[in-house]
Amino acid sequence: MPLPEPDPTLCRALAADLDAAGYRTDALRDAWGTAADGVLGRGHALPARRRLSGEPGALAVVARLFGLGDPVTVAEASATFTASGVDGLVRLGLARRDGDTVCALALIRPQAFADAAGEGEWWIASDLDEAALGGPLPADHVLGVGRASLTLAGLALPDPVDRVLDLGCGCGIQALWARRAAASVVATDVSQRALRFTRLNALLNDVDGIDTRCGDLFAPVAGERFDRVVSNPPFVITPRDGDVPEYEYRDGGRTGDGLVAEVIAGAAGHLTPGGTAVLLGNWESRDGIAGLDRVRAWVDATGLDAWVLEREVLDPVAYAELWIRDGGTVPGTPAYDRLLGAWLGDFAARGVAEIGFGYVLLRRPVSGAPTLARYERVMQPLADRALGEHLGRCLAAHDRLVTLDDAGLAASRLVVAGDVTEARHHLPGAASPSVIELHQGGGFGRVIPVDPALAALVGSCDGDLALGALIAAVAELMEVDAASLRAELLPRVRDLLLVGVLTFA
Ligand SMILES: C[S@@+](CC[C@H](N)C(=O)[O-])C[C@H]1O[C@@H](n2cnc3c(N)ncnc32)[C@H](O)[C@@H]1O
Repeated sequence: MPLPEPDPTLCRALAADLDAAGYRTDALRDAWGTAADGVLGRGHALPARRRLSGEPGALAVVARLFGLGDPVTVAEASATFTASGVDGLVRLGLARRDGDTVCALALIRPQAFADAAGEGEWWIASDLDEAALGGPLPADHVLGVGRASLTLAGLALPDPVDRVLDLGCGCGIQALWARRAAASVVATDVSQRALRFTRLNALLNDVDGIDTRCGDLFAPVAGERFDRVVSNPPFVITPRDGDVPEYEYRDGGRTGDGLVAEVIAGAAGHLTPGGTAVLLGNWESRDGIAGLDRVRAWVDATGLDAWVLEREVLDPVAYAELWIRDGGTVPGTPAYDRLLGAWLGDFAARGVAEIGFGYVLLRRPVSGAPTLARYERVMQPLADRALGEHLGRCLAAHDRLVTLDDAGLAASRLVVAGDVTEARHHLPGAASPSVIELHQGGGFGRVIPVDPALAALVGSCDGDLALGALIAAVAELMEVDAASLRAELLPRVRDLLLVGVLTFA
């Protein structure tokens, strides 16, 4: 069913109804229960349905209709949507009337946000999900806010900028987020349906300044530059033959990981000096070349600074399983085996041994050659931390470090970050530790093995004395040559500053 162009007056009326019903994340979680809330994200609506069944009141009606995509009676809807009316919901393309019943044609879920500018909630409309449809998704499905959406939003750099590009905007969640720290946002998508959802969500949440444009990747912004590009692109690697469904929301129609390579190259052509891009992506390890090395080659051709973090690695079978199941096809069926065969054939044709998933941070140098090229695996689980602020501080530390030669660094006064603790592991009965680690509480939660000299140095960084004096003191204490210790420790200190374990006083 096509989504009509959203009417601003009806959107305002619907927002008033949702507000009057108290349709907010906490209220909704209370209404359908914390346990149901948890499993809903994995596609199981039954516990929430049971909890809401027969519940009176506007919140329960909205939750059933737009939280779950379940039908409600015309009487219930009329009493709840007093400003927009059942007719208004129909004209917005969000519901249809079937006799005495109102059936949802889209989901609308509250989404809480918090950033440096404050906190609040949006209502985000998107297509009915698998749980609501009770079957596989159509190819033009527009995703709601998922884990990847929140991951990318959490990576957003906090400093305000003028212009942002959200490439592949879907329901518009990144554009809404970006607009909080930008004067204007251009949101692009190849899907007209996605762009209508983005416009609908902007109107529903009374957010202006989002310019929506249709087209393939960077085509709608040819010749334009942005201070920031954010993209959760359709990076899922999909076989191009074998009659595999092509879902717009996850597949950009390229072979292998070519789409991510294109997005990286395209970002380079659209960033202002000092402009940054933050992307999610998949990359293949092929023919003995590690995925991160292939990403490095793509970035090297652009002249951009880069910090690339690989967060997960899957073998071809696990990757194919993940995305076949995401499309609603279950194991043990002929369709599943056919799709698995197509995926494995596609990976074999390019010699793919594994597929990495991760985050790409790019920056156009203000002038000159790039100075940052960090490619690493950071696999530890993160408790949904907002990493953007941390990355912003890391970039600032990098920029300061490139201005400091070793003498300048040795003259600096440093402080251990407040979230760092030290763990010492002893063999049973041993007086000295065999392993010393620094544990970062925030950021990427790094665990960094250090030797006794570096542990002593880090422990003494309280901002009072210059680093060089501290290294000399540690050398004296440990009865080692001060110059050799300094040569050994300065590169390690640079790294600890870059990842936020140490900071400049
Ligand atoms: C994974 S979704 C991301 C949606 C949203 N930005 C988010 O973070 O939740 C990818 C989006 O890219 C869009 N897309 C697919 N192919 C594209 C292409 N060739 N050019 C631009 N956008 C494309 C899809 O329609 C979809 O909305």
